[in-house]
Amino acid sequence: MNFEFNVDGGDFTNAGSSSSTVKKLMKQLGVSPEIVKRTVVALYEAEVNIVAHANKGTIFVELEEDRIHIRLVDSGQGIPDIEQAMQKGFSTASVLVREMGFGAGMGLPNIKANSDHLEITSEIGKGTTVDIINYF
Ligand SMILES: Nc1ncnc2c1ncn2[C@@H]1O[C@H](COP(=O)(O)OP(=O)(O)O)[C@@H](O)[C@H]1O
Ligand SMILES: [Mg+2]
Repeated sequence: MNFEFNVDGGDFTNAGSSSSTVKKLMKQLGVSPEIVKRTVVALYEAEVNIVAHANKGTIFVELEEDRIHIRLVDSGQGIPDIEQAMQKGFSTASVLVREMGFGAGMGLPNIKANSDHLEITSEIGKGTTVDIINYF
């Protein structure tokens, strides 16, 4: 099953809509609640990162019998130092974003902790691609 979602930068009200759809579909497939939860946490954080740190993006989901592969592609400023960005607490979130309760710098560490496979590639001034794979 393949599907995709569009994400708009700055649109915090709709952040999380892809993860609730994915949650529903994974449950319907009979994936264990623990793996559903891990996947939804990782996807939500990655989606919020597009909203908070990029202009727009697309989420491509491949939901298969034994695994889910989620690719988030955004056009944005990119991540200059991925290793630094992965550190707990590191954040470049704006004051506005922080005031809305985002920007604790825990998103990428949480994605890492909740995915079986994580790959991030980024090009400055162009955008970022995040690949998450979880096995059932
Ligand atoms: N899609 C993205 N585009 C550009 N920068 C990003 C993206 N995702 C993460 N980052 C950078 O990595 C940092 C850490 O991300 P994260 O751990 O999710 O923390 P937070 O989103 O709370 O700042 C962000 O502050 C930002 O600088
Ligand atoms: Mg984040």
